Amino acid sequence: MTGKRMNVENDFRKSLLRWYDQHRRVLPWRALHGEIPNPYHVWLSEVMLQQTTVPAVVPYFLKFLEKWPSVHNLAEADNDDVMQNWAGLGYYARARNLHKCAKYVSRELDGVFPDTLDGLKKLPGVGDYTSAAIRSIAFNKPANVVDGNVERVMARIFAVRDPLPISKPILKQFAAQMAEGESARCGDYAQALMDLGATICTPKSPKCGLCPVANFCKAREEGIATILPARTTKAPKPLRHGYVYWVTNNKGDVLFERRAEKGLLGGMTGLPTSEWVGADIGREHLLFLPKPKDTKVSVRHTFTHFDLELHGFAVIMGNNTPKDDRYFWVNHDKIIKTGIPSVFKKAVKQFL
Ligand code: ADE
Repeated sequence: MTGKRMNVENDFRKSLLRWYDQHRRVLPWRALHGEIPNPYHVWLSEVMLQQTTVPAVVPYFLKFLEKWPSVHNLAEADNDDVMQNWAGLGYYARARNLHKCAKYVSRELDGVFPDTLDGLKKLPGVGDYTSAAIRSIAFNKPANVVDGNVERVMARIFAVRDPLPISKPILKQFAAQMAEGESARCGDYAQALMDLGATICTPKSPKCGLCPVANFCKAREEGIATILPARTTKAPKPLRHGYVYWVTNNKGDVLFERRAEKGLLGGMTGLPTSEWVGADIGREHLLFLPKPKDTKVSVRHTFTHFDLELHGFAVIMGNNTPKDDRYFWVNHDKIIKTGIPSVFKKAVKQFL
C-alpha cells in the first residue's frame, strides 16, 4: 500500500472516530467511553442483532441479562425457558444455538469467550460476521466487521454500482482496506461505522450534510448516494398455506404443540398446526376434524422467504388428550403469559 493511500484510510478513520466520540449511540450492551466491554454482553447482543433491528433487540437484551446475568446462569437455564423468552424475536435457530453456546463456554471454557476468529467460529451460532464483531467490540482486536450498514457505507464511499448481493465480496474488500492499520480503537471503529450507517448514511435519505466522512465519499461527489447500494430485484415471495387449531377441553384448557427441533419455528411451543404446503391446502392435511359450524379464522404472517396463510378452526375435544406427546394442555389464563412466536400470537388474538 502506498503512503498516500494509507493516509486516506487514516484520515477517514480519524474523522469517523472523532464523530463517534460525540455522537455514539448509547446502547445497553455497549461499554461506556473508557469502560471495558463485557464479552457476554457483546456476544448476546450480536446474536440477537443478527437479522434484527436495534429497537427490537433492546427489550429482549435487557430481559435476558436480568434473568441470566452471566454466561454460567444462561448455561444452567431450562431450555424451554430460554426459547419462551426468545419468542417474538424470530429466527429461532439462534435461540437453540445461543443456549448450546452458553453451555459450551460455561462448561468447556470456564466462562471465557475466545478472542480469535477461529476460536469464536467454533461456537454454535457464531459465523463470519459475529466472530469479527465479538473480536473487535469485546476484545478491541483487529477484524473486518461487515454488516448491512457497513456494506451501504462502503458502496457509497467507493461508488460501487454493482448491485447487492453480487457486490458483497468487493464491499468486504473495501471495508478491509479501510480497517487495515487500525490497532488502538478497533471496537470503536467497527461500532462507529455501524452508527454512521444507522443514523447518517441511512438507506433512503442519507444526511450527507452532517456526514463526518463526506469528503471521502465518491457517491456524494457523483450525486448518486441515494441510489446506492443497488439491489437485484427480488422474486416475489411464495405463499404457503396451513391449518391452525384452537382445541379446547371441558376445563377450557387449550391444546399446545411443542414443535420438532428442526425448521423455522423449531423447538418453539405454540398452537398446533398442520404442515405448511405450497399450494392451496386440502382436507387431507386436517389434523383435527372441525365440525362445519366450528369458527374459522385466517392468519397471515410474513417470513423471510415466504408468506404464510393459516386457516384456523376452533375444535372442542372433550377430555381426550391426543396420543402424540408433542401436544399438551395449557390453562386458559396462562396462554397470554406463555412466550410463543408472533404468528401464534396473531392466531391466539383472533381466536380469543
Ligand atoms: N448491529 C449489529 N451489531 C451492532 C452493534 N454492536 N451496535 C449497533 N448496531 C449493531
